[in-house]
Amino acid sequence: MRVNRENGDLVTGNTLSPRVLLFAVAMVVAIAVAGFAGTRILSFFNPDVKQPIQFNHMLHVEEVGLECTDCHQYVTTEEFAGRPSLETCSGCHEDPLTESTEEALLVKYIQDAEEIPWRRLYRVPAHVYYSHQRHVTVAGLECNRCHGEIGLTSEPPRKPLKKLTMGFCLDCHETQGASTDCNACHR
Ligand code: HEC
Ligand code: HEC
Ligand code: HEC
Ligand code: HEC
Ligand code: HEC
Repeated sequence: MRVNRENGDLVTGNTLSPRVLLFAVAMVVAIAVAGFAGTRILSFFNPDVKQPIQFNHMLHVEEVGLECTDCHQYVTTEEFAGRPSLETCSGCHEDPLTESTEEALLVKYIQDAEEIPWRRLYRVPAHVYYSHQRHVTVAGLECNRCHGEIGLTSEPPRKPLKKLTMGFCLDCHETQGASTDCNACHR
């Protein structure tokens, strides 16, 4: 309720005062600007992913003949794919097989029984729910649909080969008739 400035009558009803409206608009703009600046600042400070060993996917997949699941063993059964433990590598690299200095680094980790601190390349924010089992086993999708040809890289990618943005998820969900409900992914 407020007073009409022209004639002094009481004005009833749920009309918003211009001041309240202006404040609301300012808040929305402020949040949007802060959110946008936040992501820009984060991506500015988000340096390239540098791995402790120059691991060669192509060599192990194409020449040695390993399957993705030999090293990412939970990918068909769990939400997460899993990354190889030191034990996975030590099965073949207890003693050096090559003259490679990268392999020498690996042999050192094995001798010291120290897990290799692999860094994450692909990650969605904590507010997004994602399951490998659902996509790989239930939907039957190939890894490269979301990860690009990482199996053909001869050194670790420093940036994701595909950006896993919300639009990327939604495009496929729309074409494949999967859920586009906000709550399906944001739980
Ligand atoms: C099934 C056996 C096997 C497993 C398991 C395996 N490798 Fe290898 N790896 C090989 C073979 C064979 C070569 C040598 C190929 C050649 O002769 O050039 C090799 C070569 C390498 C090299 C040196 C050559 C290069 O160009 O990079 C590195 C480094 C390496 N492997 C790292 C790893 C890491 C890290 C793991 C665990 C995540 C691993 N390997 C698991 C068989 C294996
Ligand atoms: C011999 C073990 C081995 C095999 C086989 C292997 N990977 Fe990997 N994978 C690794 C290692 C070690 C890393 C971390 C270093 C890197 O990024 O290259 C990795 C990283 C990845 C990542 C990035 C993980 C992250 O941090 O986000 C993806 C995606 C991936 N691999 C997919 C695949 C696919 C697809 C295949 C089969 C075509 C495959 N890998 C086969 C060992 C393996
Ligand atoms: C539909 C898209 C999609 C497909 C298909 C897919 N991934 Fe992923 N992958 C993702 C997303 C999204 C993440 C990040 C998950 C997170 O942050 O929790 C991820 C993360 C990973 C990681 C690192 C984190 C972890 O879960 O251990 C590895 C390794 C990986 N994927 C391997 C694979 C392999 C191997 C395949 C094929 C067998 C595959 N992915 C198929 C979307 C996909
Ligand atoms: C290439 C296609 C494709 C991409 C890319 C993809 N999805 Fe999916 N997704 C599917 C399909 C198909 C299903 C339905 C699987 C089934 O039948 O259960 C699904 C199901 C899901 C479900 C279960 C939905 C429900 O009904 O409960 C979630 C959650 C999900 N996806 C999240 C994601 C997220 C997050 C991303 C992006 C990081 C993503 N998806 C990217 C194809 C895709
Ligand atoms: C298929 C999965 C999926 C669905 C459905 C989905 N989102 Fe998202 N959403 C994502 C992913 C993945 C991200 C993270 C994107 C990134 O990191 O770049 C995200 C990010 C966001 C963000 C954070 C802002 C940003 O850009 O990072 C908001 C807000 C959001 N979603 C709102 C929604 C709303 C509202 C809906 C329903 C209309 C919705 N989402 C439906 C997957 C989904």
